[in-house]
Order: sequence, then structure tokens, then C-alpha cells
Amino acid sequence: MKAPVRVAVTGAAGQIGYSLLFRIASGDMLGKDQPVILQLLEITPALEAVGGVVMELEDCAFPLLAGVTISDKAEEAFKDADYAMLVGARPRGPGMERKDLLEANAAIFSAQGKALNDAASRDVRVLVVGNPANTNALIAQKNAPDINPGQFTAMTRLDHNRALAQLAGKVGVHTTDITRMTIWGNHSATQYPDISHTLIKGEAAAGKVDRGWYENEFISTVQQRGAAIIKARGASSAASAASSAIDHMRTWALGTADGDWTSMGIPSDGSYGITEGLIYSFPVTCKNGQYEIVQGLEVDSFSREKMQATENELVGERDAVKHLLP
Ligand code: NAD
Ligand code: LMR
Repeated sequence: MKAPVRVAVTGAAGQIGYSLLFRIASGDMLGKDQPVILQLLEITPALEAVGGVVMELEDCAFPLLAGVTISDKAEEAFKDADYAMLVGARPRGPGMERKDLLEANAAIFSAQGKALNDAASRDVRVLVVGNPANTNALIAQKNAPDINPGQFTAMTRLDHNRALAQLAGKVGVHTTDITRMTIWGNHSATQYPDISHTLIKGEAAAGKVDRGWYENEFISTVQQRGAAIIKARGASSAASAASSAIDHMRTWALGTADGDWTSMGIPSDGSYGITEGLIYSFPVTCKNGQYEIVQGLEVDSFSREKMQATENELVGERDAVKHLLP
């Protein structure tokens, strides 16, 4: 059996936490041979509730769960963490855009960036789920100067999975028949789900769907899926968000399949002309615990315009939180 790894999860008493923790502890994230120690962070008033979740974790008798700690102090929860999943933040309600949460949530991520810098493993892999996820990841990264900036990522895997599901439903195939889906940009209504390079059973997806459906229905359905769920459920997506967070970390740690790629919000290195440093979603392959941007994809004028719109939004969000970026 491998030595246990430390997985810190913030917002552990929240909706997403309630799905996420059990999947991590069962081995869905890091493999059925990888024991985990969960280090849970919550705000003080939610510590009792998180204690209840821990009772349930114990009652599952998970073979891979090697320990659980609870704290309301970020430095304690992040101590020696190998993985940090930053979920704890306010969710949006009906009629709000995710960036409306910037002010409410930004302070959380500057404090947690500092705490990661002080306490986490130097190799910590950080996933920001709390919205607005891309810019929160940027805030955490900039407050952690001693950690490799590339270790800070934001979740667009939910958008990626949503895009797979919409396309599979339209064409009448299974999501596993689809490869090379791409989400560009921000986890927001400006994101660009791009099927220009996507394959269905090895053949171009673009040739299998009507261009009008793609431009006028597919893109907006994926962009607006979070809002549709809030409207229907009266609360934002939780189990699907947790599942995508599991996918994001598993792919990062264990790799993408040959010939396929995934989407991750990562610091731009200037690829595809995207402003360096923004946390922007790119198509990436993962191997040996490292991700790499897929290079050389052709970008037509339709795609360029969409990639630019979501980039512009991220520049605006970055400028709005300048005071939190040392
Ligand atoms: P929730 O309100 O059910 O849970 C959030 C939890 O975070 C609460 O228990 C709260 O006490 C805790 N919390 C607040 N501030 C904290 C802090 N400083 N430190 C530690 N914990 C703190 O919300 P949820 O439904 O679990 O969603 C959490 C976040 O994830 C929201 O911002 C939501 O918008 C976002 N989200 C992102 C995606 C994505 O694809 N990136 C998908 C779904 C939800
Ligand atoms: C989602 O995409 O479901 C989440 O980001 C929640 C939201 O605010 O839409």
C-alpha cells in the first residue's frame, strides 16, 4: 500500500463538500491504491456541522481513509497538503452572474493563498472551485509567491463535461465516444465551448451537427447550464460540481488518455495569444502529474472572437481585484 497523501478541502460542510468528501475517501480521485488523509476547513459556525459529516465518513469505514482533521484555521488545514481543493465560498443565487461574487469571495482566496504559502507542501496541487473560480485562483496564486504558480488551477471540467453531455445527446452517442472537447477561457457565461477539433468515434464532430445548432444552441446551453440548474433546483450544482472536481484532480494526477485531452483553468503562458498570467481554460494533456497545453490547434475567426471575449472578461475581473494581487 502507498503512503497516504494529504487532501485539504475547504467549505467541507457545504453542498459540494457533502458529495466530494465521500468520493475522495472511496478512492475515486487518486486511485483505489492511494490512502488519503482529509484535512477539512470550515468557518467557525460550521464546525459542528462538519463534525457531523466526519461522523458519516467514519461510518462508511472506507478502507483508504487514513485520517480526518477539522479546523477553522487555514494554516492548520493546509499543513503539508499535497492537494488543496478550495470549495468554500458563497454560491450565487438566481439572477446573479458569478463575477457578482468577486467582492464577497475574493478576501477568502487572498487569505487562503497566504496560508497555502506558509503551510502546504511545495508540490501542492491547488484546484479552485469557489466562484468566480478563475479569478479566485489568480488571487490565491499571487498570494503564494513561494509555490510554483502553475500549481494553481481553476475548475472548468464541469463545463467540459456539460459540453460532452450536450453533444452526445444531440448526436445519439455516449460521452465516452467523444474526444478532444475544449473549453476556452472563464468559468462564466463568456466561456467558449469549442467543438472545432472534437472527434466522435474518431471523426470530426463538426461534420455531424448542424452549424446553426452549434452556434445558437450548444454554446449558450453550456454557458448557461449553471444558471439553469440554479433556476430548477433553487441551489447551485453540487454533485456534478463535486464529480468534476474529482475528474480534474484525477486527470491531473493520473493523466489523460492517449489521443484525448481535457480542459483546465491554468495560468496562461501566452499560448494562442492569451494574455500571460490570466487563469484561462485551455485544452491540456496530463502525464506524470504535469499538464501541458495542447499546441498548434487552428483557430478560425469565429473561435478567435469567442476566445477574445472571454479573455476580455478575465482581464476586467483581474483589474477589479488589483488591490488583492501583491
Ligand atoms: P455552500 O454554501 O453549500 O457551501 C460553501 C461552504 O463554504 C459553507 O459550508 C461555508 O461555511 C464554507 N465557507 C465559507 N467561507 C469559508 C472560508 N473562508 N473557509 C472555509 N469555508 C468557508 O456552497 P456550495 O454549493 O458548496 O458551493 C461552493 C462554491 O463553489 C460556490 O462559490 C459555488 O458558486 C462554487 N461552484 C463552482 C463550480 C465550478 O464549476 N467552478 C460549480 C459549482 C459551484
Ligand atoms: C455552475 O456552473 O454550476 C457553478 O459555477 C454554479 C453557478 O453559479 O453557476
